[in-house]
Amino acid sequence: MNLNNLPKRVKLVEVGPRDGLQNEKQAVPAAVKIELVQRLQAAGLKEIEVTSFVSPKWVPQMADAAEVMAGITRVPGVRYSVLTPNLKGFEAARPFKPDEIVVFAAASEAFSQKNINCSITESIERFAPVVAAARAAGIYVRGAMSCAVGCPYEGEIAPERVSYLAGLMKGIGVQHIGVADTIGVGTPLKVQRAIEATLKHFDLNDVSGHFHDTYGQALANMLASLQLGVWHFDASVAGLGGCPYARGATGNVATEDVVYLLHGMGIETGIDLDQLIDAGQFISDFLSRATQSRAGKALFNKRQG
Ligand code: HMG
Ligand code: MG
Repeated sequence: MNLNNLPKRVKLVEVGPRDGLQNEKQAVPAAVKIELVQRLQAAGLKEIEVTSFVSPKWVPQMADAAEVMAGITRVPGVRYSVLTPNLKGFEAARPFKPDEIVVFAAASEAFSQKNINCSITESIERFAPVVAAARAAGIYVRGAMSCAVGCPYEGEIAPERVSYLAGLMKGIGVQHIGVADTIGVGTPLKVQRAIEATLKHFDLNDVSGHFHDTYGQALANMLASLQLGVWHFDASVAGLGGCPYARGATGNVATEDVVYLLHGMGIETGIDLDQLIDAGQFISDFLSRATQSRAGKALFNKRQG
């Protein structure tokens, strides 16, 4: 494994407030979500996925999207993104001036139906006017491709299907694309194949990795992506996360673990690991749960002496 030509800097999108909390059964008050965002930006995160403007019937935890967006204190230099699955979501998000919106599709038909109640083709038709409206308003558009390696309903997903979806997303004007291993089944070579399939349509600088850690492969998958030159990743503080429509999926790769790995290899993130650990502890305490971050746990215990 050649580790000599890795990127010198990595940009992390913190998805804890959104992906992290959307899967929580217990209601998390807007005030807690707002404080989490404040703590994450204080720790140096420059990209925060704050919430989703989705149907509250589908994801009740995100029903307070407007309240959360209205409640955060925005810091210059930090970019705030939100998920918008349709025009209704985009119009609801728009007054809050997100820096970026995310449209989310799936490489698998079955997951597309389960998660957003339509086929892949229909989802692209639905996203097209959202992307056009966002770009006309000067809002950056990111896309997410779920089940880019495996699907809870269809099993393994071939790279050709990822390439096909990436082409459709590019075709409607999506500017940056996330390759998501929604259920964390991917292993490094499979993840590299999914990324290479995406690179047929998107520039290396416009591709990110979004790895759930269900099978403990997320850091390895990240390293495999770094080897291809990918330098944008999503991560979730305390390893929170999961998708309510992806059975068996657990949290995203923990931001603390990612930062520990990257800093250990001399790769810059601009993040203060100590403050990040505090943010992880804050939300884990609220959820009455131990952090899922191994580095977070180890460093927190070390602090206690
Ligand atoms: P639908 O039921 O087909 O939509 O859902 P509809 O257009 O028929 O509307 C049904 C009802 O929902 C109507 O209300 C609409 O007004 C309302 P009613 O008339 O019955 O009272 N509605 C909305 N309300 C608020 N905001 C909206 C909205 N749209 C419709 N935007 C829909 C289709 C896409 C809306 C639904 O399936 C949905 O909201 N799905 C979201 C699922 C979701 O959020 N999943 C998790 C995020 S994706 C993820 O985690 C993966 C990712 O992390 C990457 C990875 O790991 O793979 C990104
Ligand atoms: Mg996810």
